[in-house]
Amino acid sequence: MNSEQIKQQENAYLANTYSRYDVVVVSGKGVRAKGADGREYLDFTSGIGVNSLGYCDPGWVRAVSEQVALIQHTSNLFYTEPCTKAARRMIELTGLNNMFFGNSGAEANEGAIKAARKYSHRKYGESRSEIVTLEGSFHGRTMATITATGQDAFHKDYDPFLQGFSYAKMNDIADLKAKITGRTCAIMVEFVQGEGGVNPLDPEYVKEMAAICAENDILLIADEVQSGIGRTGRFMSYEYYGVTPDIVTVAKGIGGGLPIGAIVFGEKTKDTFEPGDHGSTYGGNPVACAGADYVLSRMDEDFLANVREVGEHFRERLLRTPGVAGVTGVGLMIGVELTDKKAADVVKTCVENGLFLLTAKDKLRLLPPLIITKEEADEGIDIIAAALDKKHAV
Ligand SMILES: Cc1ncc(COP(=O)(O)O)c(C=O)c1O
Repeated sequence: MNSEQIKQQENAYLANTYSRYDVVVVSGKGVRAKGADGREYLDFTSGIGVNSLGYCDPGWVRAVSEQVALIQHTSNLFYTEPCTKAARRMIELTGLNNMFFGNSGAEANEGAIKAARKYSHRKYGESRSEIVTLEGSFHGRTMATITATGQDAFHKDYDPFLQGFSYAKMNDIADLKAKITGRTCAIMVEFVQGEGGVNPLDPEYVKEMAAICAENDILLIADEVQSGIGRTGRFMSYEYYGVTPDIVTVAKGIGGGLPIGAIVFGEKTKDTFEPGDHGSTYGGNPVACAGADYVLSRMDEDFLANVREVGEHFRERLLRTPGVAGVTGVGLMIGVELTDKKAADVVKTCVENGLFLLTAKDKLRLLPPLIITKEEADEGIDIIAAALDKKHAV
């Protein structure tokens, strides 16, 4: 099929849920994707935070291809090595206790919500089921996770919602305290909100929140779906805050490009799920886990230090770029506030000029592959600078 046929047939055969840029992507290597017309694009999106090692990292390709040729799937009725190896790495990297594999971020958060409710029901009775999340948060697209998501835009037309959720103002401890009741079983937060605008939580706020959780046996759930797996220059973004959540959810970057998500349980919650409580046909799929095992094998201190260093380079250069009002975020999870241009217009221009880029609310959002170099960063920032140039017609 040529590009025009792909676009036309997509409109005919796929539900109209996405507005896409006018590019048919066919291949990729490192930080560059190739379009059907042979044109190269520098990618500051990583497929929305997924391709943590870039496109087709040779070690990742080998791990996945070898596994797919060996056995592509069995089921959770049997043991498999890739699932066990990936889990062991995850537990060693987090210092948490055990984990459950699913297929996406929303699904991981669904499981975390279930586990939090079960933990509290068993200890305190079934009325203790409420979960506080934050305004501006994003936790997924399933019914439970859009309910958990603290943004009205995602709630339109889908009611009735799940009961037992309330939303506290970000970084406002008084409001958080006001939202907590005797029925609260968990607080679920992104330590760096992604879709909500690349906004990190304040350290003092997190300290108080963690203390409230510990004092009241309220579980602290960290949604690390976007911010985890090295994205911020630490393995998990909560590490910057010196707290240990009771449940951590991950997806996106852990698979390096294959669909996989996980719930990681701490000391309190490690035995909450028992056989029959939770499950997933595909969860722990050996091919996805072989990819995840390889991604996790790369997450050593040198790798993370490079994420921090290149992240700092991005920040410095972007702050010196005319049209940029501010830079938010941590490591290679970067939000760019603009002085006057509209983020969506700038992204469109950048795509036309060979750079994939994201928005988060009214900011530009950069989630480049974690292996990006300073030179590649500069190349993309030049394209952003050109799009922000007053002379440029966006
Ligand atoms: C913080 C966070 N949680 C959950 C999700 C949902 O993940 P998925 O799209 O894999 O279901 C996302 C996706 O953007 C996210 O950023």
